[in-house]
Parts: sequence; C-alpha cells; structure tokens
Amino acid sequence: MAATNFNGSSPYYAHIVGWGLAVPDNVMTNDDVSAIVDTSDEWIVARTGIRERRIATERESTSTLGLKAAQVALEKADLLPIELDLIICATSTPENIFPSSASLIQDWLGASKAGAFDLSAACSGFVYALQMAAQSIRSGAISHALVIGSETMSRVLNWQDRGTCILFGDGAGAVVLERSTEPGGVLSGVLRSDGSGGDLLGIPSVGSIDVSLAQIAVDGHRPYKMHMSGGEVFKFATRVIGDSVRQACTDAGITLDELALIVPHQANLRIIDAAARALGVNKSLFMCNLDRYGNTSSASIPIALAEAEAQGRIKPGDYVAMVGFGGGLTWAAAVVQWTERQAGTRFGTPRRQFSYTLSSARSTARRIGKRYSELLNRVRPERGRMERLRRRIEKSELE
Ligand code: COA
Repeated sequence: MAATNFNGSSPYYAHIVGWGLAVPDNVMTNDDVSAIVDTSDEWIVARTGIRERRIATERESTSTLGLKAAQVALEKADLLPIELDLIICATSTPENIFPSSASLIQDWLGASKAGAFDLSAACSGFVYALQMAAQSIRSGAISHALVIGSETMSRVLNWQDRGTCILFGDGAGAVVLERSTEPGGVLSGVLRSDGSGGDLLGIPSVGSIDVSLAQIAVDGHRPYKMHMSGGEVFKFATRVIGDSVRQACTDAGITLDELALIVPHQANLRIIDAAARALGVNKSLFMCNLDRYGNTSSASIPIALAEAEAQGRIKPGDYVAMVGFGGGLTWAAAVVQWTERQAGTRFGTPRRQFSYTLSSARSTARRIGKRYSELLNRVRPERGRMERLRRRIEKSELE
C-alpha cells in the first residue's frame, strides 16, 4: 500500500490555509433530467440521494470554474498568485490533452513563478493531488501550492444513458497549502490503484485502441463519452472506503474516534451509508452535499470541504479525513489537522483585483506578442525570397 506517514524526519508541515469553491449558476433538477431520459425524481432520490446538479454554460469550462475556486482559496489564504510555487489541477475533463487546465489557470491568475500540471486519477484525483503537493512542501522544495479539483462532467456524459447521466454535475473546488514548522496540516495519505478494473468506468480518449470504446467515443458532437458498470463500481466503492480511512488514521497517529469529520467523494448516498456501517461510525460524521451537486468527480471533495468549513463543521485543531474513489480504478484517503488561521489582512480585495486585472492584461500582451513574432517569422523568409528574386532579375537584365 502506497501509504505516507508524514510524521517522519521532515521539519516541515503542509497546512491548508485557503479553500474555496465555484459552481455554475445553472441548476438542473431531476425533473429536468427526466425530460431527457426515461427516469424520475423519485427513482433518482431513492437510488442515489441526488436532487439536482449544476451544469456549465457554453462560456464556462473546467479552467474557468477552477480559476474562480482558486481565486476564492487564495483570498482566504491571503496570498497573491505570484507567491505560488506549484499548481496541480485534478481533472478528467480538461479542455485539452495539452496545454493543461492547470497551465491555463496559472496564466489567468498571473502565477508566474509556479509550475503547473493536470493530474488524472478520476474521482480520487483531488486526494492524489493533495498528497503530491503536500509531499513537495514537506520535502522543503516549495513553500506554497494550489490544489484544484475541477470538472465539466456534463460534456462527457452520454445523455441517452440513464445509468450515468443522472449522477454527475459540474463544479470546482480548491485549497492552498503552505509550508510551516508548526505541526499539523496534511498528516497522512493513502494512494491506491487497481487497473484491472479499468474498464468498469472510463472516458476513452484519442489514443484508444479498443474498438468498442472507440465506437462510444464517436457518439455525437463531443467525441468522448463516459461508460460505467454502475453495480460493480458501487461494490468497489463500498469495499475500499472503510479500509483506506482506517489506514490514513493509523498513519496519522490518531484513532477513528478522534475524527471530527469525514469528507467522502460525493457519489451516492447509499455508498456513504454503507461506508458508515463498514467503519462502525454514525452517518452524521460524513459531510454530504451530493443532493445539491451530484457527483462532480475530482471537484466533489474540495467543494464539500469548503461547504463544511462554511457551515462550522470544521474547527481549528480538528482532524478531518478525506476519501476518494473512482475510475482507474483508484482510491485515496488523507487525514488533515485543520489549521488556526486569522482572517487575511496582507492584501485587500482592491489590490487583489488589481493584480488579476494586471495579470490578465499581461497575458493578453504576451499572447499578442507571440502571435506577432510568429507572423514576423512567416513574413521574414518571404522577404528573403523576394530579395533573391529581385537580385536575379537585376542580374539577368544586366546580362
Ligand atoms: N431511472 C429509472 N430506472 C433506472 C435508471 C434510472 N436513471 N437507471 C437504471 N434504472 C433501472 C434499470 O434499468 C433496472 O431496471 P430492471 O430491473 O427493469 O432491469 C433497475 O433500474 C435497477 O438497475 P440497477 O442498475 O441495478 O440500479 P442500481 O440500484 O444499481 O442503481 C446506479 C444504479 C447507477 C445508481 C448505482 O449502481 C450506482 O450509483 N453505482 C455507483 C456509480 C458511481 O457512483 N459511479 C461513480 C463512482 S466515482
């Protein structure tokens, strides 16, 4: 098991000092879904607990939602983007294979000193990304990291498949991690994968060699659609949550009773009920907001975390477990000790807004500069050719 106990020799801890969420305004209720496929509000609520989800408009994308969540998290952390060393965006619905959504967000933020990459671990992606960032901080290599989970699942759903399209929604959540010598923050991480279950849940992409998946891929305007064996995924999820949360607690040096809250991936209320039974804890220990957002894949944990904090369910010093599971198959759990944080005072909202306006202007100028230089490079050889032609004509006239 790829478990990480951070109580090792490092003098550094990775604290969560900012958090935020962004969801589209556009609400799609179960009744709206039943106008598209043969289902009903009653069936969806009884089998999943989901009542509504948010759907991105044409002007919203994984990166625009991720950007908004990141800005909220940075404001909470009282940090400017220029202070970031690393940006990881966990997503299964990036706009491009490359450039990464993380790079787009890095540019829009003006985080000009940060490295940026996307991480693919489906619905476990946020916990994976949190571990990667925390370990970079614990090693002493970096001071600040932005970890985002962002998805536009509505764009990869097969809206004719009632077994999947009822479940998912769009949204983004983010946290900011900061290096400190004060004990606390991300205390443990359990990352796991079982690729033999890969075909239970997936979205084929450009490199797929599986003909049956390629056929799913050529369905409709948007080429890549999700497929899932719901029952098998359900069984897998209920099996792995308990074990990984227990392991993450042991690695963090705490017992299950010391947890103030478990923030699970928001897939299905019945999965959360089964996990509570497997762990022998009260269901109220689990944060649950899937009734309003559905399954937002890698975004569901940071969205639930930010809402839990806003609802006063997480206090400084509390131990909080997070647990994700999904395509890969992958699963992951972490235990975090919540950090005491004074409200930010270093940068007021006007200065922050000014920094965003400046970085957007700088980015536009750089884009124009790059296009202009590309154009010049095209024109220059042309000029050279014309010059050679002119000389040849002059020479032939002289002869
Ligand atoms: N509306 C109405 N009926 C539906 C339906 C829908 N949206 N989807 C399936 N049904 C029907 C089926 O056709 C089947 O009918 P039948 O008995 O006449 O054949 C019946 O409901 C039961 O189907 P089944 O697939 O066994 O339902 P289920 O109880 O397993 O629920 C899921 C289906 C998808 C909700 C459930 O399997 C699930 O949530 N799995 C986990 C998925 C998940 O979380 N994935 C993401 C992980 S990150």
